[in-house]
Amino acid sequence: MSDIAAIKEKYSGEIAAADNLAGLDEIRVAALGKKGEVSMMMRGLGQMSPEEKKVMGPALNGLKNEIAALVESRKSALELDAMNAALASETMDMSLPVDTSMGTLHPVQQVMEEMAVIFSDMGFSVAEGPDIEDDFHNFTALNFPPGHPARDMHDTFFMTPDAEGEQKVLRTHTSPVQIRTMINQKPPIRIIAPGRTYRCDSDQTHTPMFHQVEGLVIEEGTHMGHLKGVLMDFVSAFFETDVDVQFRPHHFPFTEPSAEMDVRYERDGAAIKIGQGDKWMEILGCGMVHPNVLRACGIDPEVYQGFAFGMGVDRLAMLKYGMPDLRDMFAADTRWLGHYGFSPLLQASLATGLS
Ligand code: DAH
Repeated sequence: MSDIAAIKEKYSGEIAAADNLAGLDEIRVAALGKKGEVSMMMRGLGQMSPEEKKVMGPALNGLKNEIAALVESRKSALELDAMNAALASETMDMSLPVDTSMGTLHPVQQVMEEMAVIFSDMGFSVAEGPDIEDDFHNFTALNFPPGHPARDMHDTFFMTPDAEGEQKVLRTHTSPVQIRTMINQKPPIRIIAPGRTYRCDSDQTHTPMFHQVEGLVIEEGTHMGHLKGVLMDFVSAFFETDVDVQFRPHHFPFTEPSAEMDVRYERDGAAIKIGQGDKWMEILGCGMVHPNVLRACGIDPEVYQGFAFGMGVDRLAMLKYGMPDLRDMFAADTRWLGHYGFSPLLQASLATGLS
């Protein structure tokens, strides 16, 4: 029995002195590992007389448990020390001034945030979809049947067909997010889908990669009046002034009836002023969701209807903030970003101003 007391004293001293986790684990193995001192003593129980066993069994078990508990509590203490040391060395001085010359928000990012603020105030949430789309979501479910001439207007980038012969595309618009949302979500639906889109086109007002925001509302009683109201409120909030609009009949495969919305504007030298004036500029497409589109997503067009709209973010950014050439937007020129970029510290808000 005195052996046990001596062993306990030896290990408790060693455990208390252990100053790192690896060292502590070596001590644990020396005592309690397969060939550890205490384990070997426990193995000796088999050769003892029943009387000896009655005494030594519980004593050795107690020793084992005590050493294990000491190891555990030392381990927690060492881990806590390590965390405190890390916390002490990783402090940040929150009172340091922020270096705003380090970077700016890209106008596209800024405008997308402004749009999200305006539409979330009207009860819309933000949905997303992949940039690489399949034919079903980008075209077929949107009522562009295979071989339909409207597909050609999209100057599509096609991916190399995969092993099964399926040919994906870089999405040509954000409308496929409508399809993904309607398939995965039950009405009522009220979403916007901002994101990158791609078409094989490049000049002063087109870049092969550009940005769109899609909108979709599906509810039982939704009608064209709601569509007009939402979009009229949107443009006035976005341009932060009263904007006069007109809706012109148009055609899109996925809406019926379809329209384009124009805003009134005037030229002031080189600058364009949106809101009033004697000229009209088209800024978005919209319409009531085509029954074929609802059907392709498993929604009964006899029960539900809704509206959709889509607009180019980059163009709206150019109009609002006066950039002359779309291609500059994606040239990654820090002088341009310094001039047209926005402070990362200011949050767009309807209460304090969008920009
Ligand atoms: N997807 C169209 C395009 O890229 C834009 C559009 C028009 C979206 C009308 C819509 C819509 O949802 O209703 O040209």
